[in-house]
Amino acid sequence: MDFTASSASLLNIKADSLILATGPQLQNSAADLDKSLEGAISSLIKAGDFSGKSGETLVIHIPGASGKRIILLGTEGASTAQKQINVINAGANALLKTASIKAVWVGEGLSDDAEWQASIVARSVQAASYKYAPQPKMVKKSKPAKLKSLTYWANSKAAASAAKKGLGYGASVGNGMNVARQLGNLPANICTPTYLANQAKALAKGQAKVTTSVLSEAEMKKLKMGSLLSVSAGSDQPAKLIVIKYQGAKASIKPTVLVGKAVTFDTGGISLKPGGGMDEMKYDMCGGASVMGVMNALIENQLPVNVVGIIPATENMPNGQATKPGDVVTSMSGQTIEILNTDAEGRLILCDALTYAGRFKPDTVIDIATLTGAVIGALGKVTAGLLSNDDQLAEDLLASGTKSGDRAWRMPLWEEYDELLKSNFADMANIGGPQAGTITAACFLARFAKKYKWAHLDVAGTAWVSGAQKGATGRPVPILMEYIRSKAK
Ligand code: BES
Ligand code: MN
Ligand code: ZN
Repeated sequence: MDFTASSASLLNIKADSLILATGPQLQNSAADLDKSLEGAISSLIKAGDFSGKSGETLVIHIPGASGKRIILLGTEGASTAQKQINVINAGANALLKTASIKAVWVGEGLSDDAEWQASIVARSVQAASYKYAPQPKMVKKSKPAKLKSLTYWANSKAAASAAKKGLGYGASVGNGMNVARQLGNLPANICTPTYLANQAKALAKGQAKVTTSVLSEAEMKKLKMGSLLSVSAGSDQPAKLIVIKYQGAKASIKPTVLVGKAVTFDTGGISLKPGGGMDEMKYDMCGGASVMGVMNALIENQLPVNVVGIIPATENMPNGQATKPGDVVTSMSGQTIEILNTDAEGRLILCDALTYAGRFKPDTVIDIATLTGAVIGALGKVTAGLLSNDDQLAEDLLASGTKSGDRAWRMPLWEEYDELLKSNFADMANIGGPQAGTITAACFLARFAKKYKWAHLDVAGTAWVSGAQKGATGRPVPILMEYIRSKAK
């Protein structure tokens, strides 16, 4: 998709679709356009075809100009960033449903922050044009989106040049989301740890700022990653520890390290999950996929930051070598773990990855994981759970979530919760009992993240949607990118 910004006279921009954000009262460009169309828009409002309410859309075909259309996009009541993002998403979806090839988005009627608004427009349009790309020979490939270019129109030169920055950034975030979605949607018989490792290597190819390395099980054994390897023990697919380094700033600048859980399929292991809906456990690698998405966005954007992505990738399967409830393993940190439930495997791979993260002398470590069903009980599918050992980091992430519309909500890490991890046979158990499952999972991780500023995003509720619209969402790429970008400034 080609994105440009312009402040030239709106009527002179050649396009087959024009997206017009407006409430019921036509103002500025909307009023001018209405006049040039002899009141076509205002008469539709009067007739009740378009109310201007937030997120409502109406496609009008302009008589005489074949294929030309105006997409009215309701804005009334869109007073917060989140509501404005929802409006823009609705507009992008409506645009992609048309056969439009070249569109112009009128950057009026919503936010005055042209850079931000343009970034959300580009991201939304990019995300709306995503189609699942099945691997060769599986099923017929779906048709690619028709839309080829989008001009973001702003009412001044200054706003257009701000918008231009926003477009490049937003498009990279949208593409990053699509990378994460595609990896998430791929079935687990294709998207194995080895497949992810190969994709990570492909990402680095020809990129001066990027290097990928992949640790094998033998190498992990040498590093004494006994916890991670206890999860892959029951699988025929070998585990991989994928490390992607993006160096966009001086080597002396400490990196942000992102650690993404990639359980390419979670059966629960010997603590087998019930059968219903188990297919969705192919999405248990969405944390790792979001790290790949962020790396893709950084490459496109060439941001002046240092970021290391670490993706522990494995299946969680129950074969004859599988870890059994009651088994005790020693993590890379030296701490021992009594595995009381093999379905609490995410923390077992993340803890060794968090210890490994210390090697990069991180400024900050953020792990991203579809870690607990409990987070869905607590927060639903609206927001990710955020837990952190650093208040400033937590605040920064919350702000990045609000700005990007990819929100997080903080939960506590108090010692009363940590005590629930007590074990009679090891330094800790891998589960904390039936209560506060998201918090005890994070308390477990916190024991391996004491040496640096750390935050944990539990994205079990937000990384994909179920039901008729089943599919990966690309979250939390937007919040992570916003956080990384805010640090670059
Ligand atoms: N991958 C799951 C978490 C999950 C469950 C995500 C459902 C999305 C939907 C994780 O590995 C898991 O199984 N967690 C257990 C932990 C429990 C055994 C302490 C859970 O949430 O039930
Ligand atoms: Mn599990
Ligand atoms: Zn899992």
